[in-house]
Amino acid sequence: MKLHTIPAHIAVIMDGNGRWAENQGKKRTEGHREGANAIDRLLDVALEYKIPNISLYAFSTENWKRPITEIQAIFGLLVEFIETRLDTIHAKGIRIHHSGARNKLSKTVLKKIDHAMAVTKKNKKLTANFCLNYGGHEEILSNFSRVMAARKAKKETLDKPISPKEFEKYLYTSPLPPVDLLIRTAGEQRISNFLLWQSAYAEMYFTSTLWPDFGRTSLEEALLFFDSRKRKFGGLL
Ligand code: FPP
Repeated sequence: MKLHTIPAHIAVIMDGNGRWAENQGKKRTEGHREGANAIDRLLDVALEYKIPNISLYAFSTENWKRPITEIQAIFGLLVEFIETRLDTIHAKGIRIHHSGARNKLSKTVLKKIDHAMAVTKKNKKLTANFCLNYGGHEEILSNFSRVMAARKAKKETLDKPISPKEFEKYLYTSPLPPVDLLIRTAGEQRISNFLLWQSAYAEMYFTSTLWPDFGRTSLEEALLFFDSRKRKFGGLL
């Protein structure tokens, strides 16, 4: 498939795992398991198209409201994902990044993520940014503290205005660029507290495909949509 522009950063709201499972008469957790397999496919196709950054909304600050059994299943799948895929992910040149608050995440989860980030830190082909315990509001609010702590450490004045460049340096996603394309599956058309700062000028792509069914053709359709957009960033063409 020939494209003129490739997004530098795609953010994905992987919605519809529960509905996929329900349609198959399976447990919701089976839907999440198939969702993890869809991440494998997405990363492979992203590598092919030389997409440098993908953010995945795996667990939001609001998802703690779900039943504990489902929460445990999602984190169990994440741990399993890292244990079973880290070697191949590393061999493919994928870098793992985590975005989100570290509080509330279990020691086991933090240990796995930190290990995966350390092992893959020099990889350059694609950054897979796992957003876990992530919320856009929380990120923006806590970022003010990170900016101020950095200023204090550098003995800089605390009351000068914050520039976007300084602010972005301490976001969880740093050094990833702004989101060019935001994809949401399963028919809902909402941003749901995902990468609010980073998505200021993102093109939005919504599909009724449920996340576990998302594959090569689905990503290609989203890339074609992105390629057809005329982006103005508030200016004139
Ligand atoms: C939304 O679907 C999905 C989530 C809240 C969790 C996303 C998790 C995964 C894709 C698997 C986890 C694995 C890894 C490797 C991070 P939903 O449950 O809200 O679906 P529904 O709206 O149909 O109920």
